Amino acid sequence: MRTQIVAGNWKMNKTVSEAYDLAIELVTGLRAVRETEVVLCPPFVSLTTVKSAIANTMLKLGAQNMHDQDKGAFTGEVSPLMLAGLVDYVILGHSERRQHFGEDDAFINRKVRAALRHGLRPILCIGETLAQNERGETEAVLSTQLHAGLAGVTPDEAARVVIAYEPVWAIGTGRAATAADAQDRCAYIRAQLSARFGEVAAAMRIQYGGSVTGANAAEILAQPDVDGALVGGASLKAEEFIAIVRSVKSKL
Ligand code: 13P
Repeated sequence: MRTQIVAGNWKMNKTVSEAYDLAIELVTGLRAVRETEVVLCPPFVSLTTVKSAIANTMLKLGAQNMHDQDKGAFTGEVSPLMLAGLVDYVILGHSERRQHFGEDDAFINRKVRAALRHGLRPILCIGETLAQNERGETEAVLSTQLHAGLAGVTPDEAARVVIAYEPVWAIGTGRAATAADAQDRCAYIRAQLSARFGEVAAAMRIQYGGSVTGANAAEILAQPDVDGALVGGASLKAEEFIAIVRSVKSKL
């Protein structure tokens, strides 16, 4: 069975000292959680601080982005070589990166392959905009982003990839997908993964992201093809994030 995975994407929030305080609150509140993988993704500048706060706990660390090159003249960027050994996971292809920073599928694919090469686990984000959804293009968009993002990835490597289905219209809007729609899309993604990677797809984790809260998490996370959540706003409040993690039920 798939280990459920809940990740908090803190986005561009929290100073270093605030990040430390939040991580300590989460360590305390999530001490008893054993079966769900929990990943904290603070901004780059707080990675080492949060890493020390969660040392010797079950909590894992993730970055929110990275460049695909190991080093060089890329002012302001962070490389996979720098993240290897520091974090376990790296969020790639988030819709905010696609939308505000012009990242395309080819660049995201290079990042995914670079992450895998360096032993990092990519959380590859895919999702349709409201306009695409209304035009009935959701499956086509998911299929394109998924296959382009995973081009050149082997089945062995795919087992280390997490997919996050994040409909853009649900991000930060307070309007989450219904549990039934989240299930439907995640099942579609799994079918695509299965066509591409064979039986490995049954072991790959697919998260839902977009306005997940303590109030709606239980129903969404109970869906058979939803293996966890990628949480934005609600991951910034310890109580709320703890409630989301605790709402994961065993699917055995
Ligand atoms: P919200 O949970 O704030 O809607 O953000 C979701 C998200 O983008 C996580 O990556």
